[in-house]
Amino acid sequence: MYQVKKELDLSASNEGLVVGLFEKPEKFTGILAGLDEKFEGQLTELVKAGDLSAKLKSITKVHSFGKIGAKRIYFVGLGKEKDSSFDKLREAFGKVFKQLKVNKQEEAAVYLDTFVTEELNSLDAAHALGEAMALATYQFEGYKQKSNEPEKRLENVTVYSGAAEEADVQVSLTVGYAFGKATNSARTLVNTPGNLLTAADLANYASELAAKYDFEVEILDKAEIEKLGMGAFLAVNKGSLEPPKMIVLRYQGKEDWTDVIGLVGKGITFDTGGYSIKTKAGIVGMKTDMGGAAAVLGAMEIIGEIRPEQNVVAVIPSTDNMISGGAFKPDDVITSMNGKTIEVLNTDAEGRLVLADAITYAKHHGANYLVDVATLTGGVITALGLHTTGAMTNHDGLYEQVLEASVEAGEQMWLLPLFETEKERVRNSKVADLNNSPGSEGHALVAGAFIGEFTEGTPWVHLDIAGTATTAKDYDLGPAGATGVMTRTLALFVERFEPIEK
Ligand code: BES
Ligand code: MN
Ligand code: ZN
Repeated sequence: MYQVKKELDLSASNEGLVVGLFEKPEKFTGILAGLDEKFEGQLTELVKAGDLSAKLKSITKVHSFGKIGAKRIYFVGLGKEKDSSFDKLREAFGKVFKQLKVNKQEEAAVYLDTFVTEELNSLDAAHALGEAMALATYQFEGYKQKSNEPEKRLENVTVYSGAAEEADVQVSLTVGYAFGKATNSARTLVNTPGNLLTAADLANYASELAAKYDFEVEILDKAEIEKLGMGAFLAVNKGSLEPPKMIVLRYQGKEDWTDVIGLVGKGITFDTGGYSIKTKAGIVGMKTDMGGAAAVLGAMEIIGEIRPEQNVVAVIPSTDNMISGGAFKPDDVITSMNGKTIEVLNTDAEGRLVLADAITYAKHHGANYLVDVATLTGGVITALGLHTTGAMTNHDGLYEQVLEASVEAGEQMWLLPLFETEKERVRNSKVADLNNSPGSEGHALVAGAFIGEFTEGTPWVHLDIAGTATTAKDYDLGPAGATGVMTRTLALFVERFEPIEK
């Protein structure tokens, strides 16, 4: 898909040449001088006239009128060079790739050297390019009867890069693309409706992933889940006709099964709320309640591609949360796998129940570090809005590593407190060890505190993506709908992970 060339060839025929432009190019100098020459200085004139902007993320399409081999040039404004960042570069690439998609271009050339700065070398730029290309051109096919128009997508990209070895640039492009593509896989899982993505479907998907990347896979069926005593997970499934699945993938990148990272993802394929039923407005969109599972599977896809020297166990409890004569009810008392009893006060607080048993099971598989990801609470949206994932932790050092990965992935997160006051609230039950919903104040904190009860001292980070897993608006790196949030953060976290001194 990518062809890397060291020498810029302005005579090569192409649909579009993508060129980066930093402020202030009063004149086309340096590496762009040759291009301007082909246009007899007309590009400089365009800048002077204000018709060609270097403002960050402005895209200017200029027809080449046969003066160069490419039919048109896409100038990508990059703002001031000293303000450049990986994030901005990725978004700028995203914007231009979106434009190429709209124009139905099947090929493009990118003059990568024009995107390179002192801080960001050609390999960084290549990664940003690959990632942005996959992310920005993503589209959920949906289920409409197809029109006859053939689907056109960008397939051939020539990358001119003089500053690094072709092979290295190729690797960065490919890795960047893999990050984007896996995020798209997560997006597609989240966008798929509940009738077409049951727990069994999710398990099949995970098995296929395992076969492709040579992971060990374990899919626990209902009988096995019962045998292991996962009463919290089972309670949520009780009202459903669809059997639950506990999905486990194991990737061993180290000699020994030590320093195991457990990635735990909420896999509720549809959340009605159960008998604590959601409102008719609130229930719409609850197909996305497996966003945590999707992020974990997306991260595993990247891990399968880049094969880091780490050990990872992914655990996904999957079921829908339905209502029937057999469903669990408020006031029920259930027993989780680790023996703790739970008084159910709200069947809509189901995520923490399935995660409780999944965390216990991840520990059974040897997880020494835990990161859970879940579309867990509306409360996190109240607290942090729609652009920031809410984090909680019992270990600052582990959180530091997750945070660093999130910054690099361009996925915002913010730490919420895990205070004794909230631990006490979830421990407050007359009949059981815990209750699953001690009132609506500080929803997000209480949910996190509940899950924390099952970590039993293992370093753990909790990520509430209820606000960030989907978006109502198109953006530079993707369309409205599922975002695939935390896929790339988790993968980067795993790739860079350093075991914590005990
Ligand atoms: N899946 C929901 C959380 C959610 C809300 C995800 C909005 C995406 C968008 C979760 O299971 C839930 O229902 N949470 C309740 C908890 C409450 C009943 C304690 C909530 O946040 O309202
Ligand atoms: Mn719920
Ligand atoms: Zn839910």
